[in-house]
Formats: sequence, C-alpha cells, structure tokens
Amino acid sequence: MNTSLHETKVMPAASFTAVASVAALERLYTERGQSLYGGEAVSQLQHALQSAHAAEQGGAAPALIVAALLHDVGHLLAQQGEQDIANGVDDHHEAIGVTALKHLFGPEVLQPMALHVTAKRYLCAREPGYLQQLSPTSLQSLQLQGGVMSAAEADRFEQRAYFAEAILLRRCDELAKEPEAQTPGLAHFLSIASTLAKNPA
Ligand SMILES: [Fe+2]
Ligand SMILES: [Fe+2]
Repeated sequence: MNTSLHETKVMPAASFTAVASVAALERLYTERGQSLYGGEAVSQLQHALQSAHAAEQGGAAPALIVAALLHDVGHLLAQQGEQDIANGVDDHHEAIGVTALKHLFGPEVLQPMALHVTAKRYLCAREPGYLQQLSPTSLQSLQLQGGVMSAAEADRFEQRAYFAEAILLRRCDELAKEPEAQTPGLAHFLSIASTLAKNPA
C-alpha cells in the first residue's frame, strides 16, 4: 500500500511523562525494553545497546553514544503496537523521546536523536543504494515519515546544526538489528549517560 502523508495517522495523545533521571531511564528499559523493535528480530533494548555499541566502537563522542542508546526511547514511551506501522500509524517517536528527555540532557544528545528520522529521509535521497538496503519495516515507516527528501530539502538539511551527528547516529541505528550481536550491558552505557545528565540520580 502506498501511504501518502495525508493518510498518515497519528497516535492518540500518548500518556507519557518526562524521564527525569538516569535511574528512571534504567527502569524504563528494564520494564519495557523486551518489546520488539518494530518488525525487526531484536528487542528495543538490544537495538538500543547495539546502536550505542556501534557508536562506541566507532570512536564517537560520549554524547553521540548516549544519543545512539536513547534514540528510540520514544517507542518505549508511546508503546507503539507491533502492527501500527503496517496500519499506517506513525508514533512520532523521535519527538516524543526528545520531549521526554529535555530536562535531562543538552542538545548534544537531544539534537541527533531529534534528527535521526530526518537523516534516513536524507540518506535515501543522497546516498546511492541506501533506500534499497532498508529493511521492510524501515521502508514502511519511511512513507509515514514523509518519504525520500527532495533535493532542496536535502540541501537545507546539510546546513543544520548537528547534521553530521544525525547521520552518524543513523549509521549506528542501521547496524543495530542483529539478533545474535554481543554488546556491553545497559549499566555500561548508562554510566556514560550519567556523566552528561543533569540529574543522574
Ligand atoms: Fe527511530
Ligand atoms: Fe532505531
């Protein structure tokens, strides 16, 4: 089904609250992290850990490692149903996640998170072969998220602050869908988050 922007449905006002501390993040991932990552073969927690691990292995700055860990926290907060994407429902998880964390982290963490969906739309426009290698679920959600960028949109996106970080985060995101991958545990990455958080307790 070809879902146009006008057909995109919005989740009902989600009952989520701000995540005000690293301890609250730990509870959230512990309690809800086992839910599947969309139609992929990994859980939300595995996806988060693999994203952060890819960033760390690539020598990324601590803020980008934390952004990679948390980039899909909005999915946990919105509690998107497994059939929502197939049914044309976008949970706007990037906005929900950043809103929930706005008192906990600065822009160096939040901006790459906020832009990780837009970065996918950009790479589909500018990187040969990127669109073709997206997973079926990622292709479906692309349509809900606005589709491939126009050339003018892509030009503007390149000028935005945190453009490079958003692209880097997207690379980590794409590498984080391996059911058998081994990573450090949540505590390792939350300890990095604590060094950046305004309220680590
Ligand atoms: Fe995402
Ligand atoms: Fe993701």
